Amino acid sequence: MFDEELELPNARAQRRYESLVGLDDVKYALIQNAAVLLDPDSLRTWSQKQHGAVLPVVAAFSQRTPLFIFAGDVGTGKSTLAESFAQPISKQRNIEISVLRLSLRARGTGAVGEMTRLLGEAFDEVVSRGRKMPPGHALILVIDEADAIAQSRELGQMHHEDRAGVNALIRGIDTVAAEGLPILVVMCTNRLSSLDPAVRRRAASEFQFERPNDVQRVALFKGALEGAGIADHDIERIAQLAGDDGRGYGHTYSDIVNRVLPAAVLASYPDSALDASAVTAALQGHPPTPQFTDK
Ligand SMILES: Nc1ncnc2c1ncn2[C@@H]1O[C@H](COP(=O)(O)OP(=O)(O)O)[C@@H](O)[C@H]1O
Ligand SMILES: [Mg+2]
Repeated sequence: MFDEELELPNARAQRRYESLVGLDDVKYALIQNAAVLLDPDSLRTWSQKQHGAVLPVVAAFSQRTPLFIFAGDVGTGKSTLAESFAQPISKQRNIEISVLRLSLRARGTGAVGEMTRLLGEAFDEVVSRGRKMPPGHALILVIDEADAIAQSRELGQMHHEDRAGVNALIRGIDTVAAEGLPILVVMCTNRLSSLDPAVRRRAASEFQFERPNDVQRVALFKGALEGAGIADHDIERIAQLAGDDGRGYGHTYSDIVNRVLPAAVLASYPDSALDASAVTAALQGHPPTPQFTDK
């Protein structure tokens, strides 16, 4: 039902978290929002210290549904960040955090009642683990590619089984919320507008992910090509080439990191050095992934 569990803190999560470029604002807001959910005492402690009491507004925080939605284009870091953002929280606050990822298998094969049963079991497992957790521990449930489950119940063509899946998901999220345990659910989607409104309404926060802009592409290429001896003006030209050249969209982070740069390396290896023309040629050979359209 779950993919291999991730235990934070760990060095790989730290590397993955740090490898994400251009997400500083998202990272900052995310960590602030998540920290008070995963470490609920910290907000009460702050309130006591600053105001000599736990303010009603602080108590209201415990009413928030511990659900975050990560939305945006493909290849912009949603899955990577979902699995690694708790790393700094876990390190700084000395909390052991288990990241459970709902397996794609849990979506079921479409047999009647299957998705409902699997989702119900997954949330039961999360809540029962949460209840047994000693202090200093927290849980994150990542539901990646959530569109398939949480598609709007309003879509006319959705058949009965999918609707039952949405209901099971909402029930699960509400159960987690009612328990008041340090459990956080993160849902990732490429199509925010197709998420069921009842799911969206529950989310404590939504985070938007976008393709890199000019400055972010320069930072990405600079970071990856550091030490290769490529001049700054060449990096800037390369970053520009990877931008929107009239198609209406540029390369995604993933296009650059996982396609263009490896192709440039392999074109140079083993007989020549990596240079600006190898990267330029790789860019031309690997056009950007078309934008994910909502319709
Ligand atoms: N903001 C980013 N900075 C650097 N690399 C990124 C970024 N976003 C994505 N990548 C690269 O693309 C790969 C796929 O990203 P992923 O998190 O799966 O994107 P998404 O879930 O949004 O489709 C990552 O492993 C990483 O190598
Ligand atoms: Mg993803």
